[in-house]
Amino acid sequence: MSAARERVLSGIQPTMDSFHVGNWFGALTQWVDLQETHDCFYCVVDLHALTVNHDPAAIRQRTLASVAQLLAIGIDPAKSTVFVQSHLAEHSQLAWVLSCITGFGEAARMTQFKDKSQKDGADRSTVGLFTYPILQAADILLYQPTRVPVGDDQRQHLELTRDLAQRFNATYGDTFTIPETMTVVGNSRILDLQDPTAKMSKSSPSGAVFIMDSNDQIMKKIKSAVTDSDREVSFDVTAKPGIANLIGLLAAATNADINATAAAVSGLGYGAFKQQVAEALVARIEPVRTEAQQLLAEPAGLTQVIEAGAQKAKIVASKTITDTYQRLGLLGSGS
Ligand code: TRP
Repeated sequence: MSAARERVLSGIQPTMDSFHVGNWFGALTQWVDLQETHDCFYCVVDLHALTVNHDPAAIRQRTLASVAQLLAIGIDPAKSTVFVQSHLAEHSQLAWVLSCITGFGEAARMTQFKDKSQKDGADRSTVGLFTYPILQAADILLYQPTRVPVGDDQRQHLELTRDLAQRFNATYGDTFTIPETMTVVGNSRILDLQDPTAKMSKSSPSGAVFIMDSNDQIMKKIKSAVTDSDREVSFDVTAKPGIANLIGLLAAATNADINATAAAVSGLGYGAFKQQVAEALVARIEPVRTEAQQLLAEPAGLTQVIEAGAQKAKIVASKTITDTYQRLGLLGSGS
């Protein structure tokens, strides 16, 4: 037998009908790769999606669609534990415990909360949005992972997670593994097609290419991507961010090195270049989209995957909760 593999946990919100290539090429390809070397737990965090306005029918469908897309891009339930957060009460249980060791000011310093609540106004921001990072910490610490792959924007939430784990361990005895943050590597940062100074985001549909987009939609979005008043392709992130982003997309879509890709397209006219980028994206996305559609057409198979995932997750999560409650001095039932 080989030595036990290190454990990885990550999560993604089911807030859209489709992930975009920023999610895919940025973070999710790393999830796929990690399966070969780590014991991976991947969670669709539907409870987090309740922190903003949501539509009950849509979230149910989007949770299934998220699982379908994860499987379609290559997450293999035979290798990884794929599950839905709300299927395990332990997430909410640990979140409560952690909220009782989080300072109010400490939570109030989270920049993502500050940004979102500033945008929406204090009255429309919920307490759930405020405690979002604590639920995230619970998602992580329940599974005792050594590594957590996340985007750069999640760094502060991971720092909080580590602080809470250390604080709990120091106060009540060793209970949680202190996880390392693994941030996504360099040139896979994909930007908005309409505004290449911003990260690609679901809230800018014309600036994002979605996994579930039709071939036509993909072609149109790439052709109308913002470039600059030059005519010839060259790789210059500062002076030509739109072109540099398209080169990054081409490299990611073809699994190629970005510098080699940049050299290969250097000097092309913008029209021919965009055609090449669009075709490469279609070639990469089409089989994944088709696979996801097939999985969604037979939801019983997906349900089976997430039920098996919940069972595997439960074994780890329930042990952590039992240990945690015991350390806290709660009177166990039946003891
Ligand atoms: N907040 C994360 C994001 O928006 C999603 C998330 C929730 C998560 N729980 C997690 C990521 C646990 C990693 C681990 O990307």
